[in-house]
This record gives sequence, structure tokens and C-alpha cells, in this order.
Amino acid sequence: MVALARSHVLQPQVADKVEFAADVVAGLGAAPKRLPAKYFYDATGSHLFERITELPEYYPTRTEMTILRDQAADIAKLIAPGAALVEFGSGSSKKARIMLAAAPELACYVPVDICGEMIEQEAIELRADFPNLKVLPVTADICYPFELPEEAKAAPVRVGFFPGSTIGNFEPHEAASFLRNAAQILGPGATLIIGADLIKSADILNAAYNDKAGVTAKFNLNLLTRINRELRGTFNLETFEHHAFYNRERNRIEMHLASLKRQKVKVAGECFDFRAGETIHTENSYKYSVESLGALARGVGWMPAGVWTDADKYFSIQAFTFAGETAKS
Ligand code: AVI
Repeated sequence: MVALARSHVLQPQVADKVEFAADVVAGLGAAPKRLPAKYFYDATGSHLFERITELPEYYPTRTEMTILRDQAADIAKLIAPGAALVEFGSGSSKKARIMLAAAPELACYVPVDICGEMIEQEAIELRADFPNLKVLPVTADICYPFELPEEAKAAPVRVGFFPGSTIGNFEPHEAASFLRNAAQILGPGATLIIGADLIKSADILNAAYNDKAGVTAKFNLNLLTRINRELRGTFNLETFEHHAFYNRERNRIEMHLASLKRQKVKVAGECFDFRAGETIHTENSYKYSVESLGALARGVGWMPAGVWTDADKYFSIQAFTFAGETAKS
């Protein structure tokens, strides 16, 4: 079914829907039940995530912005004049703006995101704010190979930018595969600047994913609302609860949706049984140390080139350089 979803004969929206249905049916049929975190981000989910980034308990976004603002000049020393800056999963380009202001001699800025409409709109605003900068958006899934615009390929060197600790939402093997793909796309001599949330006290982590205002719970439960709307689901939201906790052994926050009772739920014509207390695993958010991210990167050919953190060591910006040989998968 997934192969069919990627087929070129289907309209993109239809293919997306077929893939969504296939992923949900497979995930709810698995033991333990799971759903891919990428489906959080419909219009409501994206709006709820924006609200999460402003919550007092959710420190990552605020802390990363502070590091970028405070250290931009130093980080920008890794961006040679004439380089192309390629942002993976750029969204609103809010963080890239700080780097763009600190590196005025860029050949071009290439925001890459699966949501083409958003980056085209953002490109218009960036061109107005940075009139000397070439902004060349690319619509692509950052986890797979994609082609860079000619200007970026022709630049003497390319610098990748992957902020937001999105790397933490990948399983470690997926993170390695992302890093390998980034090396292939950026080429020899490239630099990659990554924002990664750091391992810290479980209390701080648990609070960040269990905010008092309940926004993270809404964000998690919205996945069921989306399934009800788009896949003829019959989830009763009153009977599921947000669970988030730090798993110390695996250095990750796990998010789940727990069924409060024994029940049956239909999705896309298929029936799924839930035991009381059974959960759907909806997200992992891995936390790294400077050493553990360094080891992961080294394993696929990226050599550590710089680290910047806040005073509390809650969050890190880490830079790596790629000499030219990626390790095989
Ligand atoms: C997008 N990502 C880095 C967030 C995180 O912290 O893992 C997603 C999120 N999930 C719950 N709160 C925020």
C-alpha cells in the first residue's frame, strides 16, 4: 500500500492520504501500538506546536534562540564567504534569519521543506528583508536525497543548518541515515550546524512535555482528531489520555496516548481493540550529550568542529565538517 502511495499516477494529496491510512492501520495493528510523529503537523497541530514553543516549561526553542543570538558571530566563522546555506526542514526560517544576518557574504540560502507553500511564502519575505541574498527554496523530504539548485551546487562550499532538535525525533538509525544523506547532498568540505537538546534532569524534561496549561496534551490528542476527520476514525477523545515521561535508559522522552478503558475503535474501515491502560506510542524525543551526538556523526563521516551551549547546558548547537567519505549503511 505504501508503494502505491508513492506511485506517480496518484495525485499528491490522494497519495498522501493513502500513505496516512496505510501508516495508521499498520501502526494500530502493531504490538505495541504506535503512530508516526510526522502526522502531528496538520494545521491545528502546527498551531499547537507554535504554542508549545512559547510555554514556560518548554525551554528548547527559547534556549536555542538565545544561543544563536549570543553566538551568531562565532558560529558564522564556520561559514566561508561565498558559501551556500542549506536549511533542512526550514519551516518559518526564524532561526536561519539570525545566521543570515551574521553571514552577509553568502552566495545563497536554500530553505528545504516538505511544505512548499510555506517556504515559497517565506522566501518572498526573506527577499524583502535581505535584498542582496538569493533565496532558492526547494520542496523536498529532507530524509531522502534531493537536488540542490545550480547556484548552491556551484558555490565553493555548502553549509547545512538543522536547528530545532528535530534530530531528536528520529530514531538513532534514522538520525545516522539523515546525516549520511546530508553529507551526500552537501558534498566534501561541507559544514553542518545542528541544534540538539541535551540530556538533563528528568524533572525538567518531564515538565517540558507535561505543561500545566495542557497544550502538549492537546497536541498529542489532536492526532486522534485528525484520524477521525481524515480516515473515518471513531476515537472518543474523552477516553484517551496524554502520557509523557523520560525514559532514562534510552535518553528519550516518550509520548503515548493511553486508553482509559477497554474499547474498540474503527479507522478506515478496520477495527482495533484496546485494553484498559493500553497505549499508542506517538513520539520519541531523544536527548543527546555532546559526546553521543559527536559519536553518531563521526560514525558516518562528520567530524566535530564546534559546540555552543547556554549557561545551564540545557541545549546545544553543534557543528561538524565532512571531509569526503561517508561510512556505508
Ligand atoms: C519538534 N520537536 C523537536 C519537538 C520535541 O521536543 O521533540 C516536538 C514536541 N513534542 C512535544 N513537544 C514538542
